[in-house]
Amino acid sequence: MTTNQLFDQRPVALLFSGGDSPGMNAFLRAAVRLGMNRNEVPVLGVMDGYVGLVRTVKQIEAGETTIEKLRRSIARRPGTFGLRVKKQHIVLMDHESVSGIVVKGGIELRTARSQEFRHPERRRQVIQLLRDLNVRAVIVCGGDGSLAGAEIMQRESGLQVIGVPGTIDNDLPITDYSLGVQSAIETLVRAVDSIKDTARSHRRVMVLETMGRDSGELTQLAAIASGAEFALIPEDGFLTNDRIRAMAEEMETSFKRGRTHSIVLVAEGVKMDKQSWESGAWVVAAKLAEAFRHGPYKDIETRASVLGHLQRGGRPAPFDSILAAEFAEVAWHAIAQGKDSGITVLQNGAYKLVPFGSSPVSERAARLQRLHLQHLALSRW
Ligand code: F6P
Repeated sequence: MTTNQLFDQRPVALLFSGGDSPGMNAFLRAAVRLGMNRNEVPVLGVMDGYVGLVRTVKQIEAGETTIEKLRRSIARRPGTFGLRVKKQHIVLMDHESVSGIVVKGGIELRTARSQEFRHPERRRQVIQLLRDLNVRAVIVCGGDGSLAGAEIMQRESGLQVIGVPGTIDNDLPITDYSLGVQSAIETLVRAVDSIKDTARSHRRVMVLETMGRDSGELTQLAAIASGAEFALIPEDGFLTNDRIRAMAEEMETSFKRGRTHSIVLVAEGVKMDKQSWESGAWVVAAKLAEAFRHGPYKDIETRASVLGHLQRGGRPAPFDSILAAEFAEVAWHAIAQGKDSGITVLQNGAYKLVPFGSSPVSERAARLQRLHLQHLALSRW
C-alpha cells in the first residue's frame, strides 16, 4: 500500500491511557482485526497513549520530522517492525502485530499518563496532527481521567472520539464492568487463597490492601468471590477506632467459636478520618493488634500485605477478553456510521454507546450497597 493509499482510507487512531488493565491487549487485537477484516479501515496504534501524540508534535516542532516524512515512515514501517522503531510513536497495525495477544496481560502499545495533554495549546497541536494524518476517528481506552481527556478532545476537535472503559477500579458508574475488573478479581481470589493457607496455619488475622483508588467496588466483589470475611471500602465512610474495635471483637467471638483465621481486605481509598493520612493495610493491622491486646484473645496475631500492582497484571479472564471484543464491536459500529462519539458500555446485559457525560446508571450505587449487605451476611460466624 502506498502512503497516499493508506491515508486516503482515513485511518482510525487507537491509544491506551492511564493504568493498564488485563483485557486491553484483547481490545487492541479486536479493534485492529474488526477494523481491517470487517470495515477495511486501517488502524494506527499510538504508543504510550496521549504522550505518544505529544512526542510526535514535539518532533515536528523541533524540525526532526515533517508530516510528509511521518506519513511515509508510518506507511513503510508497519506492524511489529514499526513497534520496535524507537522514535516512531504512531504505528500502522497489521494482523501479525496483534497475533497471540488476546491472552496476554499488559498492553503492546504501552500506556502513560500525560500532564502535557492537559495544556490547551498542546491539545490543539495534537488535534492538528490527527487532522494532518487524515484520521476519521480516535479510540481511547482507559479509566475516568483518560475518558475525560477523550471527551475534551472530542469537544475541541469535532473529531469522532470513542472512549472504552478500561480500569480494574470499576469506578465508571456508566458501565456494569470495565475491562480488567474480572481479571483483577480472579487475581485477588488467588492471592486470598494463598494467604488463607498461612493464616490458618498460624491462627492469624491477615490484612490485605487492595487497589481501587476512591472506589470500593473491586474490593467488595473480590471479598465475596474469595470468602474474605471483611471488606473495608471508602463508600462506608471513615474507618474509626470504634469500627476497628468492633471488628476485633467480632473476630474474637468467631475465634472462640472455632474459626482459625480471618482475612480483611482494605481498599486503598479507606481513610481513618478526615484529618489523618493514616490508611492502608499496615495501619489497620497495627490497630487491630492493639485492640486484641486489650481483649480476651491477646495472642491473636495480625500481619499486613499490600497487593499493589500484581492486581493489574496477568492473563485476562475470559470475561474480559469477551468484553473487549464486544466493546470493539460497538466502537466499530459507531465508526462505520461515522457520526456519534461516546463511550462503549455494558448496561444490564446490553452493549451500547452512550454519550460522553451520561449520568451514572442508577443501579450501580444500589448494587454496591446490596453487595455490601450480602457480604456481611455471607461472612459472619
Ligand atoms: O486506576 C488504576 C489504579 O491501579 C488504581 O487502583 C491505583 O490507585 C492506581 O492506578 C495506581 O497507579 P500507578 O500505576 O500510577 O501506581
